[in-house]
Amino acid sequence: MIKFSPSLLAADFSQLSEEVEKISAAEYLHLDVMDGFFVPNITFGPGLIKALRPHSNLKFDTHLMIEKPERYIEDFAKAGSDLITVHQETSAHIHRTIQQIKAAGCQAGCALNPATPIAELEYLLPELDLVLLMTVNPGFGGQSFIDIMYEKIKRLKKIIDKHNYPIKIQVDGGIKPANLEKVVAAGAEIIVAGSAIFGQEDPAQALKEMRNLVS
Ligand code: DX5
Ligand code: ZN
Repeated sequence: MIKFSPSLLAADFSQLSEEVEKISAAEYLHLDVMDGFFVPNITFGPGLIKALRPHSNLKFDTHLMIEKPERYIEDFAKAGSDLITVHQETSAHIHRTIQQIKAAGCQAGCALNPATPIAELEYLLPELDLVLLMTVNPGFGGQSFIDIMYEKIKRLKKIIDKHNYPIKIQVDGGIKPANLEKVVAAGAEIIVAGSAIFGQEDPAQALKEMRNLVS
């Protein structure tokens, strides 16, 4: 079953609890944490996630786009994250950082920028619950899907299947109804979408229509 993780980044920040209510039929809530250093943009931190936690039953899917994420894993776990994803590019000892996420009681994901090869994960895959393939360069919502990423998703899917790893592939960036079926056919199982859900007039309906396309 394909799962959806609407990205809060495209929501109306002046009324977040109401916004989150609209997508209660999703499986996850995607929380994009940006530090103005790894990526140019700055968003929010564990305080906001903690404040939102009582307003939703969805799994909190925290995507850390911050340098040296090992400094903040426990804070994001305590704030109510169920899944924490860190970027391979941000942590010198990523293997240890992944252990840290699991020790904090969360599922662990590793994200790759579009230009980072899958080979970087070769010795990390046995530890992961999820691989997040960025399908745009991280930092902003509303960018266009990078077409060569279909091939990357397929290659990763092949490796996961070959070793029988219990890893889910998540895709993030530029996903919309027009390319949804193609990313799913390539092997993506958890779909992040910001503009295509919260950016729409009726986010609940937008989510429903996307789900209908792949179920
Ligand atoms: C981008 C973020 C995404 C973003 C996706 O750096 O990681 O999660 O919210 O937004 P859309 O779906 O609009 O590309
Ligand atoms: Zn994200």
